[in-house]
Amino acid sequence: MTSARTPTTSLGAASLGAAPLGAASLGAASLGAASLGATSLGATSLGAASLGATSLGATVARVDVGAIAANVALLREGVQVAGQPPRALMAIVKANGYGHGAVAAAIAALAGGADWIGVALPQEAVALRAAGITAPLLCWLWAPTSDIAQALAADVTVGVSSLEQLTAVLAADAGNGKPAHIHLKMDSGLGRGGASRWQWTDLVAAAAAAENRGAVRVTGVMSHLGSAEVLDDPSVAEQLEIFRNAVRVAHTAGLEPEHVHLANSAATLMLPETYFTMVRCGLAIFGLDPLDPHGKSGRHGLKPAMSLRAPLALTKKVPTGHGVSYNFIFRTPRETVLALVPLGYGDGIPRAASGHAEVWIGGRRYPVVGQIAMDQMVIDLGPDPDPALVPGTEVVIFGSGDRGEPTAQDWADAAGTIDYEIVTRISARVGREYVGQDPR
Ligand SMILES: Cc1ncc(COP(=O)(O)O)c(C=O)c1O
Repeated sequence: MTSARTPTTSLGAASLGAAPLGAASLGAASLGAASLGATSLGATSLGAASLGATSLGATVARVDVGAIAANVALLREGVQVAGQPPRALMAIVKANGYGHGAVAAAIAALAGGADWIGVALPQEAVALRAAGITAPLLCWLWAPTSDIAQALAADVTVGVSSLEQLTAVLAADAGNGKPAHIHLKMDSGLGRGGASRWQWTDLVAAAAAAENRGAVRVTGVMSHLGSAEVLDDPSVAEQLEIFRNAVRVAHTAGLEPEHVHLANSAATLMLPETYFTMVRCGLAIFGLDPLDPHGKSGRHGLKPAMSLRAPLALTKKVPTGHGVSYNFIFRTPRETVLALVPLGYGDGIPRAASGHAEVWIGGRRYPVVGQIAMDQMVIDLGPDPDPALVPGTEVVIFGSGDRGEPTAQDWADAAGTIDYEIVTRISARVGREYVGQDPR
């Protein structure tokens, strides 16, 4: 994220429509036990009064599915225009739902009114189907070695970026008895997936011919923006123009896709001209705002869904000049109490944040000192810490920021990355705990 736009209030909290999703509606049966991975319960329930100094914690990424549902409702409401046909919202839950858990995120998003679910990979789509997600489902990133036949058989709509991919879909779908549904993907300038504008006419012509003989149905045309979060970036208008032309070419070839979609989260929050018939939101459904990453303007009313928590494992008093963690990049400038948190880069904590990040314990922030290691990091509690900060005390690594705790964006700043990466990289080693509302 190079720079953020000036936030608007176009999606005010007032437009929030969905009732929070209760924890009960995400029961084990509806999610499938296997699909949630390690769902931490038990010890984590001790974390209810979790920001108090004496509360006990467990290592867990706590995900507020009610926040996801509410964020989706807010975003979807914000793209509607009175008197016009309703616009759809595709909730993007690729990469394990940006670390939040793909199945739980999809269920919560659908409860919030999402019309479609989107993932990058065919195997992600197939896993969602296996977990019982029956909503329209799109995947768009695949290679000749991907099992596209399995995705098509599971009624997944497949993004097609080239003539080769169209041929592969036709071959993979043969024998399914009904035409494969595809969304043609156009590269309007990002230079990644999608057919370039020089390939587009041929792809559209081939897809139209295949549709005419009943072999496929082109139900969508899509592209992806490169810099929607950057204020007044000229690339947005350029991509929009190229995409509009591409849609015209598709119509001229006789295609009548139900959905034309371009907008990601940032565009959904800021750029109505990019809405077409559907918007695709990833980051924002998880309550992280690409236009207001520090939440200074209220994040357009979005509510961060994930907080990462762990217990203090150990505390100890050390003298001045004591080394801390590998290579001794930090030595204690005074006598102090060090505390060990059992989370490291093996859990997805970025090592690059060593010496720059903070955590929240018992109502205030403390610095992470020394190198973040594979399994652990060290906190400097200072020379005279609150005696309540004993092993077991809950540490909030990041959360919504509402109480002053660090946010995913704070960690992104510390590590020189973006909040997308901070939440997405939390590894499978960390259990996910699903709550209906943040219990803090
Ligand atoms: C094709 C496509 N659409 C939508 C998204 C969602 O983007 P965002 O998380 O910025 O909303 C992504 C994410 O990278 C994407 O690749």
